Amino acid sequence: MARRPIIAGNWKMNNNKAAAKELMEGIVNGVKSLDADLMPEVVVAPTFTALWQVQDCIKNEPKIALAAQNVNPNESGAYTGEVSLDMLADFDVKFVIIGHSERRQMFNESDEFINEKAKAILAKGLIPIICCGETLEQREQGVTDAHLASQITKAFEGISASDAAKSVIAYEPIWAIGTGKSCDAVEANRTIGEIRKVIAKLYSADVADKIRILYGGSVKPSTIVEQMAQSEIDGGLIGGASLKADSFVELIKGAMPVSV
Ligand code: PGA
Repeated sequence: MARRPIIAGNWKMNNNKAAAKELMEGIVNGVKSLDADLMPEVVVAPTFTALWQVQDCIKNEPKIALAAQNVNPNESGAYTGEVSLDMLADFDVKFVIIGHSERRQMFNESDEFINEKAKAILAKGLIPIICCGETLEQREQGVTDAHLASQITKAFEGISASDAAKSVIAYEPIWAIGTGKSCDAVEANRTIGEIRKVIAKLYSADVADKIRILYGGSVKPSTIVEQMAQSEIDGGLIGGASLKADSFVELIKGAMPVSV
């Protein structure tokens, strides 16, 4: 069975309530005329404070699903500033982004913590979008594939094959994030193919065939068609270009099988 593509917008620390409303109204309007059967799964990840607003905007629009940008894996308790899975469930959150390089680098999140989050997310029936990616230095040293294999192996530790098959991976080379310099589509495809081989080794060819692996890093309307044409790339995790309704809708259209 073909893997259904995903176009996910990672808003990062952007958009207060009013801005979230304006952007979502534009996106909802833009997808209205699109054929749901041909559309990718569309996912929007606002900040926690705009979850309610986005949920309200999509309540009559099943074509769009909600994601959170983070979660704490613990049930509840003395974790000042953190948000639990129970709290996300209040907003009908379906996906949670974890392991983003910004969180790994700026907030010192370890592979072990990311694994804990993945397990907690799956235990609650939500889907983790597990990010991985190499630095420019690692790429230049030729250790990209080994680094990604390590990140993926640690992220999936203790996760069952059926949960792994449901999960989503986002390959995001760190040097391509927010730089305007997207990874060459053929090379992104090769790298994602290597990640799929790691999944096949950890689980089976069947799980590797089912798991969706996105590319992220300066995805733009001008790059999406070539990226989506690659056999291993199942969609995009998009930062900058998801912050404008027009470009996000163009990205959605770029992930559809026929030009619409
Ligand atoms: P970008 O961000 O599209 O702005 O490069 C991607 C991401 O960090 O998820």
